[in-house]
Amino acid sequence: MRIAMIGTGYVGLVSGTCFSEFGIQVTCVDKDARKIELLQQNVMPIYEPGLDELVATNVEHGRLAFTTGLKDAVAGADAVFIAVGTPSRRGDGHADLSYVYAAAEEIADAMTGYTVVVTKSTVPVGTGDEVERIIRARRPDAKFDVVSNPEFLREGSAINDFMRPDRVVIGTESEHARKVMTQLYRVLYLIETPIVFTSRRTSELIKYAGNTFLATKITFINEIADLCEKVGANVHDVAKGIGLDGRIGKKFLHPGPGYGGSCFPKDTLALVKTARDYDAPLRIIETVVAVNDERKRQMAARVVTACGGSVKGKAVAVLGLTFKPNTDDMRDSPAIDIVRALVDAGAVVKAFDPEGMDEAKKLLPDAVQYCADAYATMPDAACLVIITEWNEFRALDLDKVKTLLKAPTVVDLRNVYAPEEMAEMGFAYTSIGRP
Ligand SMILES: NC(=O)c1ccc[n+]([C@@H]2O[C@H](COP(=O)([O-])OP(=O)(O)OC[C@H]3O[C@@H](n4cnc5c(N)ncnc54)[C@H](O)[C@@H]3O)[C@@H](O)[C@H]2O)c1
Repeated sequence: MRIAMIGTGYVGLVSGTCFSEFGIQVTCVDKDARKIELLQQNVMPIYEPGLDELVATNVEHGRLAFTTGLKDAVAGADAVFIAVGTPSRRGDGHADLSYVYAAAEEIADAMTGYTVVVTKSTVPVGTGDEVERIIRARRPDAKFDVVSNPEFLREGSAINDFMRPDRVVIGTESEHARKVMTQLYRVLYLIETPIVFTSRRTSELIKYAGNTFLATKITFINEIADLCEKVGANVHDVAKGIGLDGRIGKKFLHPGPGYGGSCFPKDTLALVKTARDYDAPLRIIETVVAVNDERKRQMAARVVTACGGSVKGKAVAVLGLTFKPNTDDMRDSPAIDIVRALVDAGAVVKAFDPEGMDEAKKLLPDAVQYCADAYATMPDAACLVIITEWNEFRALDLDKVKTLLKAPTVVDLRNVYAPEEMAEMGFAYTSIGRP
């Protein structure tokens, strides 16, 4: 079988590469010529563990290729996946579908023979209908079906998530398209992955319902953590105590500085907008959005408090900028709001992140100083702030940290360290939801 993947970002590149690993002939297309040039030289444009080896192997075996030429990639393909970005539309929070619709137009002009057009991008309910309308308008006689197949991979463990997913969701009413999709995911059938076939609109909604539920779970435990601080309880024990209940589950009950990243912030907002449009407001998700926005500001305030009520003119060491470890993705990272607030309050921020600094430079205030390693952020700092829990920040030489900092103050927004140990070592230590 042969497929084209339109959009070679975090989702398109990983999905395309994994499909080629399944034995399918894949052409990944992107309009960003620099990205394609890098990939043709086997240089990854993103950081994702294990991706470079998998790309190299499949390119070598002739199953995976990269191009800017959409037309040739689409002509003759059994299926064409749309994996372009769907960011928040400026001003109103709706998903910006302009990239999806532009791709649909290009696909319409290029496809030959029966083609399954698959939206892998996260798109609001009804987008598949519009993609179908666009293609039909340009090619009244073309034979095609439009299928929804949302992606659930997580950056940082994307390859494993794609190869061994909890489930695959396929939204289509067409028997022909169902057969093609079943063939493409044949390898996952063999390992008994649940495949959920549903209508196209239902499939589109499943993706948003999933992401907003997870964002709600995170926000819930964050608020419980705030309460724990007031009443002298430990949020990790609360999370364990409730998480062992099979109806609740252990995952996504780790408190922190608020959710961020390329999906949850924009997807919660977009679903809220869709629900309002259909006059079925999702008040829970609206509250989640508001609470999470507010939380990021509160995190900066914690740092200010830890520094004695003011950071004006003080150096603050910041570790971790990406929205989570093992990615270089800075989109909507909580670090953006926290660092901005600290800079606004007069702090001299010295930061380090293992993979995110190139992206961070585009998004954080110019005044931020970037350091070569974790310890280089610390000399003379009034406080050390851990925003993202990269493994290398879990085992810092705490004696060294104490000597380097001007005052032994640590604000740990990911609860990487144990409060008792930190107190014993003489640190003024603030974490989330623990006495
Ligand atoms: N990043 C994630 O972890 C993740 C997980 C699940 C779902 N998703 C969803 O997948 C979609 C893609 O996300 P992403 O993070 O991969 O985005 P991304 O921004 O990393 O990649 C999108 C790519 O599409 C390219 N592109 C846009 N229009 C194009 C066109 N007409 N032709 C060719 N290339 C084009 C862009 O140049 C870019 O490289 C989004 O809808 C997102 O919500 C993302």
